[in-house]
Amino acid sequence: MLDKKSMRYPAAIQALLEKHTHEGSDSMWSVWRERLVNRNNYGGNYSFVLGRQDKKDELVYLNFESAFHGLCAHAPYTLVTGMTGSGKSSFIRNLLLDIAMTNPPDLAAIKVFDPNGGWAFESLKGLHRLRVETNIEAAKGYLESIVKSIQAHEKLFETLGVKNLEECNNALGLKKRIMRTFVVIDEIAVWLIDDDFRAKLQEALKAISNKGWSTGYHLILATQWPDERVLPKEIRDYFGNRIALKLPNAEMSEYALGIKGAESLSELGHALAVLGNETEAVHCWIPWLSDEDAERMVTAIRVAEDR
Ligand SMILES: Nc1ncnc2c1ncn2[C@@H]1O[C@H](COP(=O)(O)OP(=O)(O)O)[C@@H](O)[C@H]1O
Ligand SMILES: [Mg+2]
Repeated sequence: MLDKKSMRYPAAIQALLEKHTHEGSDSMWSVWRERLVNRNNYGGNYSFVLGRQDKKDELVYLNFESAFHGLCAHAPYTLVTGMTGSGKSSFIRNLLLDIAMTNPPDLAAIKVFDPNGGWAFESLKGLHRLRVETNIEAAKGYLESIVKSIQAHEKLFETLGVKNLEECNNALGLKKRIMRTFVVIDEIAVWLIDDDFRAKLQEALKAISNKGWSTGYHLILATQWPDERVLPKEIRDYFGNRIALKLPNAEMSEYALGIKGAESLSELGHALAVLGNETEAVHCWIPWLSDEDAERMVTAIRVAEDR
């Protein structure tokens, strides 16, 4: 059996974590030191660490592929909400680092869109697999390409006589397999006022959702305004995982999460997570990682990837 703990990270990342052993349990360093990875047969990890559970200090994972660490396999799409300055982009940055720390580039592609110029992701710009797009036309083109690639995969499944991504990848072998892609759109409200963008987003969500098999696409959207005028129900309802940082009122919390509570979150980084297939909401807090620390981690990832 694999010793999951010992093969968590490549040596360069492990060395960087060890350099930060003095940082306490309220740091992202300690979370990364403690966390376990959920490697599949190919060596990919799709369980990402959200933060610590409020009362118990246990780590909370967002599981995109299989159940892990006492939590179920969650939904493929994630909605992140919270007022301006509540920590949405910071959380997404931690998540992107976690994806890159625990997967080589051929096991997890990353695509980030940010209508606000991409500044929130500046410290990640050295990550080779990450490109931040700030242009709405580029975003529309990408959403269209998702629909096309899913159609192509469907044909491939027919040709190979397989029923899902795992079987397909088994048939294709290591080199040709279809990879998982994590698509982040930050501050989506800015673009949702564009009818064409909204229509293309809905088409992509429909294409990914209606298949009954994992298409390998994971959408993560963030918005500060979870209300019906900004984020229509038809779009919201696709999102099985909902994570809210502080919201201005209970109505918005209900709209974002299906429950009240995000309006009473106190400090920065505190979140309420309603994750697909779980019976209870989880209160957790997300440690803060400075720009400099994010850059240090990017450098270690680059060394690990030999770039
Ligand atoms: N988890 C956190 N813990 C402590 N401070 C945080 C946390 N997340 C964010 N911050 C602080 O709040 C600021 C705004 O965070 P940001 O992620 O840009 O918010 P948002 O994207 O929701 O507007 C950050 O620059 C940082 O100073
Ligand atoms: Mg932001």
